[in-house]
Amino acid sequence: MLAYLNGNYLPLDEARISPMDRGFLFGDGAYEVIPVYSRRPFRLQQHLERLERTLAALQLANPLSKEQWAEVVQRLVDDHGSEDQGVYLQVTRGAAPVRDQAFPRPAVPPTVFAYADRLPTPSAELLATGGTALTAEDFRWLRCDLKTVSLVANVLLRQLSAAAGCTETILLRDGLVMEGSASNVLVVQDGVILAPPKSNLILPGVTYDVVLELATANGIPTQVRPVAEAELRSADEVWVTSSTKEVLPITRIDDAPVADGRPGPLAARMNALYQDFKN
Ligand code: PDD
Repeated sequence: MLAYLNGNYLPLDEARISPMDRGFLFGDGAYEVIPVYSRRPFRLQQHLERLERTLAALQLANPLSKEQWAEVVQRLVDDHGSEDQGVYLQVTRGAAPVRDQAFPRPAVPPTVFAYADRLPTPSAELLATGGTALTAEDFRWLRCDLKTVSLVANVLLRQLSAAAGCTETILLRDGLVMEGSASNVLVVQDGVILAPPKSNLILPGVTYDVVLELATANGIPTQVRPVAEAELRSADEVWVTSSTKEVLPITRIDDAPVADGRPGPLAARMNALYQDFKN
């Protein structure tokens, strides 16, 4: 499998970085996961814009222009060869000679890494039964809008549901639904899609945007507003969305069924719209 590292293309298993890399020492970096369908990156510009936004918040200069990123992505996709893929991009503040939380002075070159892998979309069986979720209090920091590689809180939160054999952990803060440990959460009530608003407390999902756009274009009502935990538990449907999960209905939360415990009709409709749109 081919990787891109600091301007060079090489086999992934030959790619090496320093243990002094600030991504390794501090989680000091940004990343993106871009789905690729029929060898075409999906919503590439939106992913590159979010990367730009995360890098700006980390006070890191974007090492590549959008055109250069697009070239790297396409080269990895062409080399990988599968129709559907997931491309991972990461930029860290680089390897400094000493371990110090403050930015290295003088600055060191960033570490820029990318590779293409398979896209782990939900299986037909999972889509047919729906996924399962646990809820947990969101103990992440107050900049969840940034796609940084400092993911240990997401890792611990995801592991809660993984250990219980569930598909995702749904995060609650102050009695409100935030998002999943690696996805956004949408709730359907009386035919209306309720979407927690973008803020510093959730990642602005590219898939979330696509789903809300598809809903609007197809006359499905949406409301972007805070969603209470009680609304999650009494919902007609609950979906998680991400570049890898696409639109996955959740049919059990904390051992209670969502409505009748089967994927709802709006999930099936949205999935059909999404599958059609992405190709
Ligand atoms: N995760 N919220 C969180 C915390 C996420 O990590 C993700 C995506 C999303 C959905 O964003 P998008 O629709 O742009 O993929 C929401 C990726 C897939 C990951 O970390 O693997």
